[in-house]
Amino acid sequence: MDNQKPNQEPMTPSQAGQQILIVDDNPTNLKFLSTTLNHAGWEIAIATNGDMAIQQVKNNPPSLILLDIILPESDGLATYQKLKASPDSQDIPIIVTLLSETVAQVKSLSLEVVDYITKPFQLEELLVKVRVHLQVHYLTKNLEQKNQQLCATREQLQAAQKQMIAQEKLATIGALTAGVIHEVKNALNFVNNYAQYSVELSDELLEEVEQQSQKLETKAVDYMKENLNVLRENVVVINQQGQRADSIMQNMLMQARTDEHQFHVTDLNSLLDQAMRLVYQSRRAQDNCFNIKINTDYDDSIEPLELISAELSRAFINIIDNACYALLEKQKYYQAQKEHNISEFMPKLWLTTKNLGKIVEIRICDNGIGIAPEAQEKIFQPFYTTKPTGEGTGLGLPLTYEIIVEQHGGMLKLESELGVYTEFIIILFAVN
Ligand SMILES: Nc1ncnc2c1ncn2[C@@H]1O[C@H](COP(=O)(O)OP(=O)(O)OP(=O)(O)O)[C@@H](O)[C@H]1O
Ligand SMILES: [Mg+2]
Repeated sequence: MDNQKPNQEPMTPSQAGQQILIVDDNPTNLKFLSTTLNHAGWEIAIATNGDMAIQQVKNNPPSLILLDIILPESDGLATYQKLKASPDSQDIPIIVTLLSETVAQVKSLSLEVVDYITKPFQLEELLVKVRVHLQVHYLTKNLEQKNQQLCATREQLQAAQKQMIAQEKLATIGALTAGVIHEVKNALNFVNNYAQYSVELSDELLEEVEQQSQKLETKAVDYMKENLNVLRENVVVINQQGQRADSIMQNMLMQARTDEHQFHVTDLNSLLDQAMRLVYQSRRAQDNCFNIKINTDYDDSIEPLELISAELSRAFINIIDNACYALLEKQKYYQAQKEHNISEFMPKLWLTTKNLGKIVEIRICDNGIGIAPEAQEKIFQPFYTTKPTGEGTGLGLPLTYEIIVEQHGGMLKLESELGVYTEFIIILFAVN
């Protein structure tokens, strides 16, 4: 055993707080190892047999274990195997201390020990090996942590990539939809034109029958008149519904155009009005009892503005659709309370535009459920939604914010009172 004083090397930051567990039943060895290592700056724990060592590791896992293995009589080998088998301790580096004459024997067991130290101990060798293995262990842990972070980042990247692919698909569907809508619109054009023509033809035929009525049998005249009138009415309905389908297609076409990311001179009032109609039509298509009172007050003095119309229309649709949802929620509440004789609720939506000189102000207000002050801070955050799972993505308002603020350099504000109203105020700058 080397009795010289250990070198007083400065403690490294990682050394502070690191504990070494010494497992040895020989009091002289224990004393030397604990004094030396403690003097070098490490905290020391001692175990004089295997069970004690396992208990200590369980209670307070050390950074490194110095394990005495005297073959064949000591329980060091069994302790080693138990430590390596337990998930709590299998990662802790173990340096085996042994007699030089047993090294070959222990090596033949091919244990996963990080290193050996032979007795009698050499001070320098002991300190260097302990320091190196602690450092290696620390660096390995660090690397594992970095690796985990990298894996997490990779997962995030993959998720983002999936989202981009999904968006790309949507864009493709959008482009396809635009093509299909064009075709349907063409077909509808024929339907509408022929329907109009057929109405005129029915009128002419009715006139002709009227003129020829003297020459024909009264019964035959009545029969023709009656059927011509039915035919005319049918064609009028076909024409009305065809016009309606055409206006729905027109609105959808505006939405589906994905390549339209250019600023175009646009009539703001009609863009807002079309967005409102589209939301209303689609809500009605889902539920034909859907009924709200819509008040519009559009300022005619607003000059056409340079806007990305498809995008801004999407923003209006998001806000108006949210308003409709809030109105329906309040209506549901009132209906549930009906037996308590709560006064009637009339769902209302107000759309207002105002020319304020250099700026244009758009207000979209509903008397729905309102938004609590603490939720008002969150509603523009992606994925924040109060809708039941599967019904809302919580992306409507973040997208709306991006369109108005980022793309159009405008402003989006919110005023609301829980249970009373919600108003979104949009400011756009008129560029000359
Ligand atoms: N007019 C409103 N009245 C009451 N709450 C609203 C109103 N507008 C938005 N909110 C609240 O803001 C939340 C977020 O709205 P956002 O449009 O971002 O997502 P969403 O409507 O929940 O989902 P998605 O737009 O995908 O259907 C809504 O879930 C709702 O709680
Ligand atoms: Mg929404």
